[in-house]
Amino acid sequence: MRSYKAKSVEPIRLPPRDRREAALDDAGYNVFNLSSDDVYIDLLTDSGTGTMSQEQWAGMIQGDEAYAGSRSFRRFQQSVSDVMGFDHVVPTHQGRGAENVLFGAMLEAGDVVLNNTHFDTTRAHVVNQGAEAVDCPVEAPWSAGDSGDFAGNFSLERGWEAVEAYGAASIPVVVLTITNNSAAGQPVSMQNVRETAAFAEEIGATFVIDACRFAENAHFITQRDPEFADTPLAEVAREQLSYAEAITMSGKKDALANIGGFTAMRDPELFERCKQRAILYEGFPTYGGLAGRDLEAMAVGLREAVEPPYVQERIEQVATLGTLLEDEGIPIVTPTGGHAVYIDAAELFPHIPTGEYPGQRLVCELYREGGVRTVELGSFAFPDTDRPEFVRLALPRRTYWREHLEHVAETAATVREQREEYVGLDVVWEPPMKELRHFSAELEPVA
Ligand SMILES: Cc1ncc(COP(=O)(O)O)c(C=O)c1O
Repeated sequence: MRSYKAKSVEPIRLPPRDRREAALDDAGYNVFNLSSDDVYIDLLTDSGTGTMSQEQWAGMIQGDEAYAGSRSFRRFQQSVSDVMGFDHVVPTHQGRGAENVLFGAMLEAGDVVLNNTHFDTTRAHVVNQGAEAVDCPVEAPWSAGDSGDFAGNFSLERGWEAVEAYGAASIPVVVLTITNNSAAGQPVSMQNVRETAAFAEEIGATFVIDACRFAENAHFITQRDPEFADTPLAEVAREQLSYAEAITMSGKKDALANIGGFTAMRDPELFERCKQRAILYEGFPTYGGLAGRDLEAMAVGLREAVEPPYVQERIEQVATLGTLLEDEGIPIVTPTGGHAVYIDAAELFPHIPTGEYPGQRLVCELYREGGVRTVELGSFAFPDTDRPEFVRLALPRRTYWREHLEHVAETAATVREQREEYVGLDVVWEPPMKELRHFSAELEPVA
């Protein structure tokens, strides 16, 4: 049963096939280059693309746009304190702004940061400080098929290997990303949060949580860990974060806002350093690159994110999309994670070699066949790594209905039927920073 209904709608249309063909050509076989007018169902990302509630819009009208000390900041601060348990908070324009502020205040050149899996911008900000980003994922999420209950976990074994390799003194920060976006959105168990916190303490590192999808992660814990079966979601959400010394957050995810982010911490001295950096990069520490109304949207959204009906429907919708795709014979990572379904394109297109980007071909064909925009997170997005050839279908929050998901599954079924016809792709242009190439590179079918 849905716990909300639509009050305001946005028209969408499936452009005619010849328009989609032309748009794909003009976009250089890269769907980031498409105009959103040419997209029917947009599953490119769940970041900032969701639908806000009437309470969030009502809050925005009351945004206090004072440069310093605004009421909106105080309301936002109270929400962060109530929902996440942190009293020192620095707002930023989005999650990567929070990473810049926090890591800039904590890291020095030559440091090493451990993370279950660094999200791209997290890795980039660690590297930008002259530090090294080391991933410590458990094995499970790296293939389609059963990935286990908490496949987003931090591998303590890998953590200790890193300590042996680099020395504890070189590792000032250990991060846990919940849920683990780069590992198919898989959740992290409470036990793993506790153990990773203890590990960080033992090696003298500060334990940071990347809390972008903290509410989704908490929901999985209530569903999969008997210890928390009867614990209210909001309590589980808070307990996870209670083990961290600091958090980074993208408000575009589980603060249910279209823009915004923040970092929060317990140490007043670190707070002070972060505020100074925020002034340099984001704006005065009571607005952090945001309008007062954006702070209001996050203040309300954070409270809504831990309401059980919302988060349960959210996770179930992702699972439903997964089931619809599986019913059509599409190989996906199961059980599905919190925000997206991941298709294994290498398994779907075994005749397209890795060097010819089977994932990007799938992305293009989903668009060509059904106007569905998705994103490749395999060898095109992450060159020179051994990532699986995943294509991610991320669901915006509170936005699409079952009929939309059925259209996606039918589109995927058509693509699967025609798979023998598809050849791979060649990159014909890429920007100087290869790590960022999937945003703007251009491709064409191999001869
Ligand atoms: C786990 C994780 N961390 C950090 C970020 C960065 O957040 P933003 O896009 O708001 O800068 C993202 C965004 O997708 C994310 O998924």
